[in-house]
Amino acid sequence: MWVKSAIVNRVGCFFMPQSVLEAIYARRSIREFTDQEVALSDLHEIVLAGIWAPSGLNNQPWRFVLVTDEETRKKLSETTHYSHIVLAARALIAVYLDTEAMYDKVKDHQAAGACIENMLLATEALGLGAVWLGQILKNKDKVNKILDLSSQYDLMAVLAIGHPLHRKQKSSRKGLDVFILKTFQQEDTDVFQK
Ligand SMILES: Cc1cc2nc3c(=O)[nH]c(=O)nc-3n(C[C@H](O)[C@H](O)[C@H](O)COP(=O)(O)O)c2cc1C
Repeated sequence: MWVKSAIVNRVGCFFMPQSVLEAIYARRSIREFTDQEVALSDLHEIVLAGIWAPSGLNNQPWRFVLVTDEETRKKLSETTHYSHIVLAARALIAVYLDTEAMYDKVKDHQAAGACIENMLLATEALGLGAVWLGQILKNKDKVNKILDLSSQYDLMAVLAIGHPLHRKQKSSRKGLDVFILKTFQQEDTDVFQK
């Protein structure tokens, strides 16, 4: 079977996150890649992780185009400011919503986001690197033309994927206090804090 489990096959490798939380915190956007190819089986596993995201009514509105050939990558690189990233990445996955499978605009877009994040975490678990490209959406019609897809398919993102050139990427987040607006807490339930 082409689908393999990252956990079974990659235990022992230094990059294997030990938990979902470790993958979440270790993941960084990777924009520089070696020229080592990405195995099709890894791309399939990344897509599989994506389709196990939740979706409203379990409608699974996502669709994917996998690109590893140089000619198509070159054409796609001309549709974004981030052409250097598209050219450097040995694999691209275009993530679409199938408008005919959609039932609620907001919820289907939320499902696409959940799907893409699952894919990024799977990429991390496989020891690969990826970046979520959104700027390319400005030219979504051109992308569809290159990929020979009708407007039934609405581009959500292109993931540029490859073997990371290095893992020195830094990122930061604001403190929790910025994001948590309020906490309504039952005073007598949290006995350990007393
Ligand atoms: C909706 C969305 C669109 C993005 N578009 C781009 C993009 O076009 N080019 C790019 O280099 N990074 C893009 N990113 C990656 C962000 O810049 C990156 O996630 C952010 O700076 C935080 O860094 P980190 O992913 O390493 O934590 C995008 C991320 C999201 C969620």
